[in-house]
Amino acid sequence: MMSKKNEIVNLQHMTLPKNATPEQKELLTGMVRVNHLYRSALKVAVTQLEILDEEFSTMYDHSPIHHIEYRLKTLDSITEKLHRRGHEVTIDNIYTYIQDVAGVRVICNYLDDIYYLRRLLTRTECFTITRESDYIKNPKESGYRSLHLILDVPIVISEGTLHLPVEVQLRTIAMDMWASLEHELRYKSNRNFSEEDAKRLQLCSEAICEVDREMQNIYLGETPEYNA
Ligand code: GTP
Ligand code: MG
Repeated sequence: MMSKKNEIVNLQHMTLPKNATPEQKELLTGMVRVNHLYRSALKVAVTQLEILDEEFSTMYDHSPIHHIEYRLKTLDSITEKLHRRGHEVTIDNIYTYIQDVAGVRVICNYLDDIYYLRRLLTRTECFTITRESDYIKNPKESGYRSLHLILDVPIVISEGTLHLPVEVQLRTIAMDMWASLEHELRYKSNRNFSEEDAKRLQLCSEAICEVDREMQNIYLGETPEYNA
């Protein structure tokens, strides 16, 4: 199952004020290109994942992929991230400092599926991993778990072949449930997020980790890790 997370912003429809400065005009032109190039890289990465998913659904009775979500980072979000890291908003700085303009989230069924997919994705010469953060082996302090890869994705355009980064987040259904509710509780709800809430969410994350391991063992027909 595929889902497009956010509508892609079409910058061609962005309007500039009549008295726009040359810098503003240059930024807009650059953004149109950024949008086009990263959208292309995103398409290549997503298409490859869809091909694998279709192969598994057609040929085998188990696909490591439960579903895929993807998005292009909005201009607001790019601007916020550059400012947060102390950089000016320029086209060069987007290419240099923002690795997740194109982002794919792959929700897997089982824990092992994550590492299996990682192997499949990087077995071809097409994609190489330029950065990897394994928040499954080393969860974040919040309790966040996922495998993050920055893939170098080639795209063929009229000028030749360009390589662009695409961030791929791989996680199980359970990890995804935790991440989306934690994000909701921490940033979106009107309630006060307390230290105790943070601690309880860490405990939830540990519980989810146990559940993932046990589901994996049931699937593999292995004995439980506890005394049943
Ligand atoms: P960002 O500036 O946040 O993109 O940091 P980064 O580029 O160093 O990447 P990092 O590896 O920290 O991962 C960032 C992304 O992972 C976020 O955009 C979230 O999607 C996800 N993420 C990281 N930490 C957490 C967390 O504690 N909770 C949740 N819900 N998501 C997280
Ligand atoms: Mg990121």
